[in-house]
Amino acid sequence: MTCPPTSWSFHAGRGLTGSSPLRTIQHFMSHTGFSFRQCSAIITGASSGLGTEFARQLAPHANVLLLAARRLDALEAVKAELLAQRPGLTVHCCACDLATTDGRAALLTAVDSLGLAPNLLINNAGKGDYGNFAEGDVERATGQIDLNVTALVTLSHAFIPKLRASAAEPAGILNVSSLAGNVPMPDLAVYAATKSFVTSFSEALRIELLGRHIVVTAVCPGPTPTNFGKNARRPGGVDTNRDGQDLLRIPTQQVVAQGLAALGKGQASVFPGGGVSLVAPLFRIMPRAIMRWAMERRYRKENA
Ligand SMILES: NC(=O)c1ccc[n+]([C@@H]2O[C@H](COP(=O)([O-])OP(=O)(O)OC[C@H]3O[C@@H](n4cnc5c(N)ncnc54)[C@H](OP(=O)(O)O)[C@@H]3O)[C@@H](O)[C@H]2O)c1
Repeated sequence: MTCPPTSWSFHAGRGLTGSSPLRTIQHFMSHTGFSFRQCSAIITGASSGLGTEFARQLAPHANVLLLAARRLDALEAVKAELLAQRPGLTVHCCACDLATTDGRAALLTAVDSLGLAPNLLINNAGKGDYGNFAEGDVERATGQIDLNVTALVTLSHAFIPKLRASAAEPAGILNVSSLAGNVPMPDLAVYAATKSFVTSFSEALRIELLGRHIVVTAVCPGPTPTNFGKNARRPGGVDTNRDGQDLLRIPTQQVVAQGLAALGKGQASVFPGGGVSLVAPLFRIMPRAIMRWAMERRYRKENA
């Protein structure tokens, strides 16, 4: 089996290698997991960053991958790389703007006209807008809701009846949320709120879909080196990189390996990386007043 060039390796059927007390507890709290063997997956936002890495790590196990994003040339480049990695794999590309009704319809039409019977949906496409909300462009603000929330909800709704699922072989929905979903974040106010939505929606949907044999997992990364920061930057603005992020930043390979491993084990959510998995539960139990105080202090310092 070919694995990405990283010390973090995702192995279909075995998940992420290694063990810890936390992983043992997670194991007992999980439902039946998803099997990646010969899966047929739809990956949104597959033209860069985490989406491309999901495709790379699924390629050794999958039968069919459908890659969706706006830039066809970038999708074709990912397809060529995957076919070089595994010539027998079937890869389709769908250029579509998932922030629009027409773009989402184009993806559904592509799946139907190709006659695909997917058993995995990875809702990964997402974007941020870094800066003060009141001073920003409202189209950029609402564009995050259109992609991070509306596309994820619409595609989940459309694909649930299409996913091949049985008690013996459950289907999967992997939603890419964020550590930001646990924190009210000044300068990323709308983005963080969209990711709160994704985490909450995923947890509720997971319960509703148990009877349909569809596993839902939310992967909640911390800062990860992709094009996210560059794309979130406003004209004349600054990057999303902030003080203290180095402790939380881990490679894309590790984020994706842990996300896939969590789905493989049927976990509700995963916060990839040691630093992120430590701070995420703290953020959840921290009194909101203290959380707001800490965020205000940081905001004032950064904008002094
Ligand atoms: N990087 C981080 O620090 C971080 C942390 C936590 C969570 N996340 C989440 O991880 C996910 C992946 O982001 P990334 O970090 O890999 O960033 P990225 O490198 O910027 O990738 C974003 C992907 O989404 C696609 N996309 C953007 N707008 C789209 C649209 N309107 N329709 C269809 N596809 C669209 C982009 O492709 P096109 O430009 O070709 O359309 C690209 O493939 C996002 O949901 C993000 O919120 C990222």
